[in-house]
Amino acid sequence: MVSELGSQPLFEKASKLMPGGVNSPVRMFKPYPFFTQKATGSKHYDVDGNSYIDYCMAYGAIIFGHSHPPIIEAVKKKLDLGTVYGTPTEAEVQLAELITDSFPCAEMVRLVNSGAEATMHSIRLARGYTGRKKIIKFDGCYHGAHDSVLVKAGSGAASFGIPTSQGIPEDTTKNTLVVPYNSVPLLQEMFEKEGDEIAAIIVEPVIGNMGVIPPSKGYLNELRRIADQYNTLLIFDEIITGFRLAIGGAQEYYQVIPDLVTLGKVLGGGFPISAIAGKKKIMEHFSPIGKVYQAGTFSGNAISVAAAIETINELKQKKSNFYNSLEQFVIELTNSLRECISKNEMNVQINNIASMFTVFFTDTAVMNSDGARSCDNTKFMKFHSELMKRGVFFPPSQFESCFVTASHNKEDLSKTVDAAVAALKAI
Ligand SMILES: Cc1ncc(COP(=O)(O)O)c(C=O)c1O
Repeated sequence: MVSELGSQPLFEKASKLMPGGVNSPVRMFKPYPFFTQKATGSKHYDVDGNSYIDYCMAYGAIIFGHSHPPIIEAVKKKLDLGTVYGTPTEAEVQLAELITDSFPCAEMVRLVNSGAEATMHSIRLARGYTGRKKIIKFDGCYHGAHDSVLVKAGSGAASFGIPTSQGIPEDTTKNTLVVPYNSVPLLQEMFEKEGDEIAAIIVEPVIGNMGVIPPSKGYLNELRRIADQYNTLLIFDEIITGFRLAIGGAQEYYQVIPDLVTLGKVLGGGFPISAIAGKKKIMEHFSPIGKVYQAGTFSGNAISVAAAIETINELKQKKSNFYNSLEQFVIELTNSLRECISKNEMNVQINNIASMFTVFFTDTAVMNSDGARSCDNTKFMKFHSELMKRGVFFPPSQFESCFVTASHNKEDLSKTVDAAVAALKAI
């Protein structure tokens, strides 16, 4: 034990002080979540003295490994110079340049603090720019916990079976049109009815929040085509995929260029920062030069910006070899599991792309949120707990992606394969 209180007593105490004992719902799993002592590289250590090979990786925020020394050094260097100023800095300009160099759609950048802020303001910007009210989102995509997108959302909202959160006025959600992911005809139909009123399509180009669901072939091109046909903006929410599928995210990977992109998670190298980026003619509608208001005390703070600059510079130096080796790890891991699944005739599907994968407990391919929702969640949670007994931590929900980082090594790979095969057989 590394804490006087172990995870169970800490959870009991936390539950008296914090709703559900956690500060974000997905962190809760039964009977109680372990409490973290520290995390370094690919390993997560709890206060009870256990260690785990981590595939949650702070829900995809980490790409090099926990506590990556160059990022920690870059932050330490800044700490003595002040942390937040309320004035612009050269480092913000440097970061904006790194983002515009990396993302094909990005001509200008606005920094914010969280993914939810980024998507919220990207939607406001799209509404301000087009003068239209409605947006399209896809069933199962998660864009943060704010009013216009908390409708048929993935991630925690899916785990806890909440189709639309209480506390959101119908006047808001009536402007959010929901369409199934990976279906062009249903999207086309919606546009035929409502197209002239739709400000934006917002989409996770690869869904990470119903488990991993990649787009079917040509799907993202169709989104681009339909958006252009109706003068609607296309927003790629790349909070997960940005800097993860490739340095230029899903738009580089699939060669489909949106009008706006939202970035977060990997961008900050473990520190809180997000961004909205896009075409200049749209971005210039943001205040103070435009009439779409957007602001934030901690936006562009020195610490998160330093971490982000170090992260992008390191990714740029490493180039495509880096992404290939993460993908190779996932391919080896998922192929070994598929072998076990087919030998033992298990009803399990695995989706994977780049450094992301999900194990789904179902007998049919998972192409959209209906497919993900039809999975056996009880079996998933048993699998999760069997994995934990064997020193492997997956995110505690069927509706999340596992993430591989540069710190996952050969030994992790073989231990994880052994643990996952044993866990699959044990449930
Ligand atoms: C695709 C996507 N968009 C937006 C968000 C919200 O980001 P944040 O939790 O930083 O507000 C998330 C968070 O998981 C996400 O996965």
